[in-house]
Amino acid sequence: MADLPLDPAELQRAGLRLDVDGAVATISLARPERRNALTFSTWHTLARIGETLPETVRVVVVRGDGPSFSAGIDLRLFSPEGVPGEDTSGPRDEEFIAGLQAGYLWLRRPDIVSIAAVQGHAIGGGFQLALSCDLRVVADDVKFAMKEPALGIVPDLTGTKPLVDIVGVPRALEICLTTRTVFAEEAARLGLAELVVPAAELDSAVADLVAAILQVPPATAAATKRLIRQAPHNTLEEQAAAERREQVPLLGDPAGASPAS
Ligand code: ACO
Repeated sequence: MADLPLDPAELQRAGLRLDVDGAVATISLARPERRNALTFSTWHTLARIGETLPETVRVVVVRGDGPSFSAGIDLRLFSPEGVPGEDTSGPRDEEFIAGLQAGYLWLRRPDIVSIAAVQGHAIGGGFQLALSCDLRVVADDVKFAMKEPALGIVPDLTGTKPLVDIVGVPRALEICLTTRTVFAEEAARLGLAELVVPAAELDSAVADLVAAILQVPPATAAATKRLIRQAPHNTLEEQAAAERREQVPLLGDPAGASPAS
């Protein structure tokens, strides 16, 4: 295990655990007694994990302890009592929300592949955390729900874009405005899960996926992710040009050097 870039006490305050083992970082939501409810510290610390991630890391797994991946925002943050240790006095302006969003946005970086391992409930900010990852492996008891509109707010933790990209505008609107639950079979059908497995097999299924991804050389994986991510926004001609740009450096020196890795 590498030395952790973050103070374990800071992680604990945020309800998180971080394990870095060579090329794989595992972020665990670690407040199962509260169903891994998320606080402002959780989002700020997730951003710090992204900023300080060792360069060796190529795959980031985001998982949750206990029966639920995450019950979303800690609802006590909306109460006058708040959450002990959490500063709820500041303005709720766009800069404040950007600071929370930073906790999720880095999971799309091209130098890593992020995988959400989701069991049980993934609600609101928990659903959006799963959506922030490149891939989702889910247990057959998964329950996704975007509850924000029921609380009078919009989903603002970067989840609306991936949700629409995956399920399309009408279905995303219906899921958000009904705040209903999406169960495993539908999640797989809609593309919200790459893989559905029995709950007891979630960890091993994720480990198999991680091992497969790590077989691809790092530079190739990063180039492929850049390429695939931009494809929906490009014309065919633009995408063909992007393929050429990414491929040439990977082909290496024609005089015999092996392709870049
Ligand atoms: N915030 C704070 N505490 C929570 C939260 C939450 N979001 N979710 C669960 N907890 C606490 C419960 O209050 C309970 O505490 P207690 O033991 O002190 O009574 C403990 O976690 C266990 O919760 P249960 O409800 O008993 O667990 P169960 O497994 O039966 O249900 C479920 C889990 C479905 C997730 C339920 O707790 C729930 O509906 N939570 C609220 C979900 C929600 O609306 N989140 C906000 C989404 S919007 C957003 O994220 C922006």
